[in-house]
Order: sequence, then structure tokens, then C-alpha cells
Amino acid sequence: MTTIRLRVNDDAVTREVENRTLLVELLRDSLGLTGTHVGCDTSQCGCCVVLVDGRPAKSCTVLAVQVDGAAVTTIEGLARRPADGGAPALHPLQQAFIDCHALQCGFCTPGMVMSAAALLAGSPAPSDEEIVHALEGNLCRCTGYNNIVAAVRQAADELARGGADGLPASGSGSGSGPGSGSATAAATASTPAAGSVAKEA
Ligand code: FES
Ligand code: FES
Repeated sequence: MTTIRLRVNDDAVTREVENRTLLVELLRDSLGLTGTHVGCDTSQCGCCVVLVDGRPAKSCTVLAVQVDGAAVTTIEGLARRPADGGAPALHPLQQAFIDCHALQCGFCTPGMVMSAAALLAGSPAPSDEEIVHALEGNLCRCTGYNNIVAAVRQAADELARGGADGLPASGSGSGSGPGSGSATAAATASTPAAGSVAKEA
């Protein structure tokens, strides 16, 4: 067992993990952040994409020990927490996926949104070709990709109007859970167990 310390959605986390534990297992099984999905376990579908230090990573192919000291952002960390502790506001990407009907079952959506968030953080006004390229590691089995590209384009426009970069300031987030058939739930992925993330003083 190895002790790792990292930040997940701006919460400090310390866990004992086996050296074989995958990042996606840490997120889903230990931290209860089930918005990160597992679609293939073979690094092909992109359902498990999260951000590690701001860069997209397929969490089914990253060992938990490899993120020791890193900042990890999951779909649960994308919505914006108001300073007054009120209900979090959807990230423009989450809202755009809903507005543009960019999902059906929603299983691929958290990974799509996180890959798109990384794109917009580095390329605020991407061309359609850049969007397609950024999402080529994310597979969707039931929605046409055109609406997904349109959603990313809409979010880019919205972020440009708001002057944001598409990522939470430091991975701060709200809770979210698996989108079991609900468009809103899939795009926001509220976690049922946000409180299970260990917080350090
Ligand atoms: S579950 Fe990780 S790429 Fe499919
Ligand atoms: S797999 Fe993408 S919406 Fe169903």
C-alpha cells in the first residue's frame, strides 16, 4: 500500500492505495465520484476522462500513485460554487450540452465535457476541426457528433462573453452523479457522495 495526497475538485485527499489501483477506481470506489464513467477499460472510449493538473487523462489508464501531489478535476468539479454557499451554477459546457441536445443516454457525456473543458482552457475560440480533434479520443454510441461540436462551440462563445477560461479556478466543484438517462444529470453528474471526499484542514 502507498499513501497518496492530492487535490480532487479542490478538496485535499489522502488515501492508502494499492500500487495497482487505477485513478478511476480511486475516484469512483473510494471517493464516490461516480460521474466519471468506465465504458471500456481499455483506453478507447474516453468515458473516464478527467483533468490531471489541467490536462485531460483517461483515468482508466492512470495509476492512482501517479497522481500523488496532483490536482484532479472531475465532472463533479466543473460546476461553479457561489461564494455564499448556494446551489452551484452549471458550467457553460454543461449547459450547452443540454441546450444543444448533445447527448442521449449520457454515458459518454462526462468524458466529452472534460475533454472539451481542457480544449477551451487552452484554445478559447477553437475551430470545428480543432473541436473534433480534441474529442477524437471520446466515443459516443448513440448521439450524432454534430450536436456535441455545436455544444462546444456554444460554450466557447459563452465563455468568451464571460471572460472565463473554461476551468474552475482551482478545481472547485459541486457534487454530481451518473447520468442515468437524464440529460441534465448526465451533463452535471451530481455525486451522491461528495461528502466522502476526505477534507483536510
Ligand atoms: S473507460 Fe477509460 S477509455 Fe474507456
Ligand atoms: S454514448 Fe454518448 S450519449 Fe449515449
